Amino acid sequence: MKKTILIIAALMAAFVARADEGMWLLPLLKSLNADVMAAEGCRLTPEQIYSVNQSSLKDAVVIFGRGCTGEIISEEGLLVTNHHCGYSSIQALSTPEHNYLMDGWWARSRAEEIPVPGLDVTFLVSMEDVSDRANAARDQEGGEGLQKFIEELENAASASNPGCEATVESFYSGNVYYLILYKKYDDVRFVGAPPSAVGKFGGDTDNWVWPRHTGDFSMFRVYDKDGKPLKPRRSLEISLKGVRENDFTMILGYPGSTQRYQTAAELETMLASQEVSIACRTIRQDVLKKWMAADPVIRLKYADKYADSSNGWKKWQGEKLSFERIGLLDQKRREEAAFQQWVDADTLRQRKYGSALREISAAASGSTGALCTAYLLFEAPFSIELPQLALQYLRAGMEDGDPGQVLAQYKDYDAAVDKDVARVMLDYYRKHASEAMALDSLGTGYERFADIDIDQYVDYLFAESAFTSREKLEKAAADTTFALQVLDDPAVVLANVMMGKMYGVIPALIMLQYGIPASRTYTAGLLEYYGDRPLYPDANFTMRLTYGKVLPYEPKDGLKYEYYTTLEGVMEKEIPGDMEFDVPSKLKQLYQARDYGRYADKKDGRLHLCFITDNDITGGNSGSPVLDADGRLVGLAFDGSWESMSSDVLFEPELTRCICVDIRYVLFCVDKLGGAGYLLKEMKIKK
Ligand code: ARG
Repeated sequence: MKKTILIIAALMAAFVARADEGMWLLPLLKSLNADVMAAEGCRLTPEQIYSVNQSSLKDAVVIFGRGCTGEIISEEGLLVTNHHCGYSSIQALSTPEHNYLMDGWWARSRAEEIPVPGLDVTFLVSMEDVSDRANAARDQEGGEGLQKFIEELENAASASNPGCEATVESFYSGNVYYLILYKKYDDVRFVGAPPSAVGKFGGDTDNWVWPRHTGDFSMFRVYDKDGKPLKPRRSLEISLKGVRENDFTMILGYPGSTQRYQTAAELETMLASQEVSIACRTIRQDVLKKWMAADPVIRLKYADKYADSSNGWKKWQGEKLSFERIGLLDQKRREEAAFQQWVDADTLRQRKYGSALREISAAASGSTGALCTAYLLFEAPFSIELPQLALQYLRAGMEDGDPGQVLAQYKDYDAAVDKDVARVMLDYYRKHASEAMALDSLGTGYERFADIDIDQYVDYLFAESAFTSREKLEKAAADTTFALQVLDDPAVVLANVMMGKMYGVIPALIMLQYGIPASRTYTAGLLEYYGDRPLYPDANFTMRLTYGKVLPYEPKDGLKYEYYTTLEGVMEKEIPGDMEFDVPSKLKQLYQARDYGRYADKKDGRLHLCFITDNDITGGNSGSPVLDADGRLVGLAFDGSWESMSSDVLFEPELTRCICVDIRYVLFCVDKLGGAGYLLKEMKIKK
């Protein structure tokens, strides 16, 4: 195990003086990053950031739910994350009468905090390099041997660490393996959030864009098994000092996925499948948008579904533009040609890596069609909720699951909206799917997909199915004949036909899930080839650290963006009554009175809202703590900038910026705007 680390350490040592690119592994900070971090201004030792035996900063950083980061900010389990990370939970708790999502809300006491069913928070306990054993298992017994080794290790580690979950994760495309221990808490309660007009100010228009004026935060509390507020191993101190240009910052969190080492062929495949998703979502989102604008009840029901869809949709469009601007594919091809030349210059290298690139290219290009087919299936018919509800309900009944969970989903379901979606998506699917993927046999009179009158079919589907509302379903399910009849329910028939088509795309999905086998060899080659380049592993939703600086940027010739924004900008952007740019009247009053209290900037007296840094983050990092040189919380990371949308694939130091909400704005929103200042008493706030 040491060997791998040492090789990587040596390879990276030469690089580290470069830009602030890199999502670094915590156990390697000491060997790889400590010197540069100190030179850039960090006043903490690697052990203060990551230690297995002592409490360290990493103990305050958690996985929030399924795909975000959060941090503990009090000794009583108080947690802060982004508003967009708490969004689905807050939405699930909201009703038109108690619309926490739109209106904001704060618990007035612990007793008022609201449990969020299904939400959990996960702490990292430890990480251990097990590459030597994993690679030995593979060398001796192939992929199955590796799989067996992983399973046995996970089981043994879970058994010897009660209360923990063990998982083995692969890094550098399967060249390095870590055994990771996690501890999960599933009693998480909603403490409060600002109204959407603050937490999501700017909406989709401002999403992925700087300058930004969003108070993107929400608060929860973690409870232990006895129902008492969790006593954490570590909670973060908060600094009210604010940030200045060139200040050192570091971010700990869970970046989800990057493609920094992918080949041009793989990127082309990725772009092609994203194109399919963009096209489908454009159509579906237009339908949702129309309904949401017309009806506040539907707006609430579909708020999270819409935000989730449009976030990726906008990201992929930005990525495409960025890639074109920098000529990414050509650049990649040139790099690959140089790599191949280096390989071919040496017989040993040739033997090890000679065919890797060719194999990757063949696998990637060979799967593009199947992958696009799969995306079309998932983004078009599978985006209709009705067959999904039917499928989930039947599954819950069969595999002693919980049909109640499916019934609960009807709170956020509207059959009229879904019917509209079904119409446009089936029509789109029919126009673009191959004959082999046609949804034939949808019922009597609807045998051939090609001949169906889609409007008529959708009318029939929604009129005849028992799954269009909770009431209808409960009534039907109470009937003793339900089990016999349900397989003929048109939504079940549709679901079955769709599932049948899914089998055809399974090979593409397996590749998507496990990657191309030759990637491992190629990455090993890259590790050897790029002696002096950043070879931290691609993001894989394990905890990482990125260090950097507060920095402005110049998105184009003659234009320079400041590194921070202030409340003035909210007033400038205000569009009264608008879904994205409305400003709460309380916020306006506070602005008019310049009533910022101790949250005002010490130098200019204004209220600073957001700032940017060149830290290296991606989706999954949302909610991550932005820490100063002493490890104190100065902000929360929540987005990237439009000009740096290439960053999952290529980090451009001059343009890549991480967008953060200033912790002073967060506390202002809790205290002055939300009237929940009592919460600040449990925080450790440093002036
Ligand atoms: N772009 C952010 C991310 O991927 C999400 C921002 C959510 N805001 C919104 N308007 N949808 O983490």
